[in-house]
Amino acid sequence: MDPQRLKDNFALVGGNGGDVAAYFYSDLFERDPQLRKLFPASMAKQEEKLLTALSHIVSHVDDTPSLVPFLQDLGRRHNGFGVVSEYYPQVGASLLATLAYFSGPEWSAELEQDWAAAYGLVAQVMAEAAAEAANGGQGAEPTA
Ligand code: HEM
Repeated sequence: MDPQRLKDNFALVGGNGGDVAAYFYSDLFERDPQLRKLFPASMAKQEEKLLTALSHIVSHVDDTPSLVPFLQDLGRRHNGFGVVSEYYPQVGASLLATLAYFSGPEWSAELEQDWAAAYGLVAQVMAEAAAEAANGGQGAEPTA
């Protein structure tokens, strides 16, 4: 995975602003219509939150000590949204489809591999923290 290549590609894609998140959610709800009911009727705020989180993740992709706790918190919060680990692949597929669409001719096999690897790690850290919390632990220090 080449962190700089990811950052450059996200900067290119992010230049399209809100369209990116709107495209992403349209793709996701077409891919898996049952996911629509997890989200609010009006998606504007959610689109903004997603883009903010993604840009935080991408800018810290080579800063594991800061990224991991961020992803663990985000993953744990997703327990409260009715998200289960089986949903992560659909979200990954829509993310890659969105990045490919907005990258246009810049999209490449290398970028696809980089993003798939990065999303795989993000999803793993989020889902593991969520599962741990759901099993009663807080994913933190044991209580003494
Ligand atoms: C890269 C992975 C993901 C990122 C960066 C992400 C980001 C976010 C953010 C920033 C929020 C706002 C709430 C908060 O910060 O606590 C949120 C909410 C939410 N996310 Fe995710 N998410 C991811 C994966 C998923 C997956 C796999 C699903 C499954 C469908 C999902 C469904 C939801 C739902 C349902 C909400 C709550 C919407 C609401 O009721 O307001 N997310 N997500």
